[in-house]
Amino acid sequence: MRRNDGKFMNTPFIMDHPLIQHKISLLRDKNTGSKEFRELISEIAMFLCYEATRSLPLKEVEIETPICVTKTKVVSGKKLAFVPILRAGLGMVDGVLEMVPAAKVGHIGLYRDPETKLPVEYYCKLPCDVTKRDVFVLDPMLATGGSAIDAINLIKEKGVTSIKFMCIIAAPEGIAALTEAHPDVQVYCAAVDEKLDDHAYIVPGLGDAGDRIFGTK
Ligand code: PRP
Ligand code: URA
Repeated sequence: MRRNDGKFMNTPFIMDHPLIQHKISLLRDKNTGSKEFRELISEIAMFLCYEATRSLPLKEVEIETPICVTKTKVVSGKKLAFVPILRAGLGMVDGVLEMVPAAKVGHIGLYRDPETKLPVEYYCKLPCDVTKRDVFVLDPMLATGGSAIDAINLIKEKGVTSIKFMCIIAAPEGIAALTEAHPDVQVYCAAVDEKLDDHAYIVPGLGDAGDRIFGTK
């Protein structure tokens, strides 16, 4: 999609699969406890990863089956790195590693100041060869977009050029802010909700993802 300033912006990819919608309904339910909540976040992250890796390049190789020699395809191109935004992004790591077990994992620690709603950075550790990798940033919630924008700024400052962002629930405000700040970053999400409330929580949303994953409230 072309913006007013002539730059190209990626349109967010929204998963509309019935099984994903079903799992998100379970996530939203306030009676879903931490164990089931964690399992659901992980499963949905696995399916999101399946879509987010759809455009990985392939190369042809020759192998021998028990029957004959044949040409077949394997993934080629850059290696991958997953970067969860702490804390809640941690809940997505096991699911994406199920799909790409050889990927490296970096971590960015950000929390939202409850007064300003702005992200505060407290940790950043990325793989030493991160510039040679396709980077997938993970966070279940895209609310104002501030945390995702800052995390991607940090990753770009290290010299990374290939970045995708995966979230489970996005607010329209967050999608708009993120695609405006980083038009080159493809966003993958499992649901787009109605709006943000006065505390910048997603409505209807699922509450505080970090607290529900780790049982801290
Ligand atoms: C949540 C969530 C995102 C951020 C989204 O984290 O996991 O990182 O808020 O909000 P934004 O789009 O308005 O920046 P939080 O700050 O609650 O930290 P936590 O994961 O440690 O609970
Ligand atoms: N962070 C969350 O965990 N949930 C929201 O709705 C917004 C920010």
